Amino acid sequence: MQFTIKPLVADKLRSQCLVLPVQAGKLTPTGSAIDGRLDKALTAALKSGDLAKKAGSTLLLRSAGAVSRILLVSVGDADEVTEKNYQDAVRAALRVVMGTGAAEATVCLQEVGVAQRELRWRLAQAVLVTRELAYRFDQFKSNNDATPTQLAEVVFAVDRESIAAARIEVDRMQALADGIDLTKDLGNLPANVCNPAYLADQARRLARRFKLKCEVLEQKQMAALKMGSFLAVGQGSANAPKLVVLHYNGGPAKQAPVVLVGKGITFDTGGISLKPAAEMDEMKYDMSGAGTVLGVMQAVAQMKLKVNLICVVAAAENMPSGSATRPGDIVTTMSGQTVEILNTDAEGRLVLCDALTYVERFKPAAVVDIATLTGACVIALGHHHAGLFSPSDALADRLGAAGKDMSDTCWRMPLDEAYQESLRSPFADMGNIGGRAGGAVTAACFLSRFTKAYKWAHLDIAGVAWKSGANKGASGRPVGLLARYLIDQAD
Ligand code: BES
Ligand code: MN
Ligand code: ZN
Repeated sequence: MQFTIKPLVADKLRSQCLVLPVQAGKLTPTGSAIDGRLDKALTAALKSGDLAKKAGSTLLLRSAGAVSRILLVSVGDADEVTEKNYQDAVRAALRVVMGTGAAEATVCLQEVGVAQRELRWRLAQAVLVTRELAYRFDQFKSNNDATPTQLAEVVFAVDRESIAAARIEVDRMQALADGIDLTKDLGNLPANVCNPAYLADQARRLARRFKLKCEVLEQKQMAALKMGSFLAVGQGSANAPKLVVLHYNGGPAKQAPVVLVGKGITFDTGGISLKPAAEMDEMKYDMSGAGTVLGVMQAVAQMKLKVNLICVVAAAENMPSGSATRPGDIVTTMSGQTVEILNTDAEGRLVLCDALTYVERFKPAAVVDIATLTGACVIALGHHHAGLFSPSDALADRLGAAGKDMSDTCWRMPLDEAYQESLRSPFADMGNIGGRAGGAVTAACFLSRFTKAYKWAHLDIAGVAWKSGANKGASGRPVGLLARYLIDQAD
């Protein structure tokens, strides 16, 4: 599916499906111009009451001549269109368009203002919502009866003076949507396909395609680096752990890189501290942090952003076996600090701590780790906001703003010294769990002990990386948040 920008000239519009917004029962100037050409057929349709006022209501009309279908879509009843009403309208409209035989649709969003949001935002949302609707993961269905949409081109008609900026944004958002699709695919793949070696192969594939530097550290090299904690997580599995590093150099050579570190547990059984059976299949998504950083890397490389970015995937499989780590085992991390592994199901922090120590060598401008780290974060924030933890107000504010812009939000959580106490161990420098209270915070506190050398933030995405229930599947979050943060850094 292609997204293109064309100048808005109401009396020259040609389209297989023209999408016109209706605000508080009224057509926009473009809508009125089309209406004039059609002997006021649109006004008559609106008068008949066939289009409900609720945002997202649609009315599809056949037309003749240069415009063969017209889709009216309500953006709500108020003078000011809310972000949600706008998103609902775009989603509903494109769903209808995709159900028609139209191969092309022209969307006229130019004239509806959304509270506080400029055209750039409206275009970005339109591209992302449309691509979200078009996403399918059906490679394992042998009888695929869902008919794919005919829609191949979506045209945004905008004012002449906005065309150049609109093209840049729409091209960027297509690259972002490709990255989000990659992240979703990786999340949705079962763990018998998507194991640590598979994640490494995906990184190598990106490296070939975008001419990136890629290093894959194997068990032996990790042992030489004394990553005792990371290796302890992988040692129960027949699939060896991997530490994958991808470098993208789009910025000035001397500029310090942004480093993203993703938790890549390709399956989390809990290990010897075995998880209950119910919904354990969902632990194939426990590599969503890794999937996110690979999706972001693809998007950034495709956008050719002027930033230096390093993406690190900490990949392992957490299995119980005769060679698995036991509760009570004590390991030495790459940092030299020792950890008593009281619960083998708190494994994400054990792979991340060594990866976070490893990235010190890149002298980063900022490090953000992304992890499906705790069930406690889901209890605290539900499925709307990711948990954001950072000692740096400036970094937290930037990530928060980027998330808001993309409707891929996070909520800042505390990281006070007082919580550190719960990690105390009688036998080692720390335990790997802090008890049930404030579980998302104590997990972040654990990571904070390995991130003193640079500016750092942690995103706990356990609640947002996938959807359960009827629409089960990977969400592609928080690729949008991170991509917007990097776009802001680059511009
Ligand atoms: N991958 C899980 C966290 C998780 C749970 C993500 C549910 C998504 C949904 C993580 O490795 C884990 O098991 N965490 C434990 C930590 C506990 C043992 C301190 C948890 O949250 O229960
Ligand atoms: Mn676990
Ligand atoms: Zn896990």
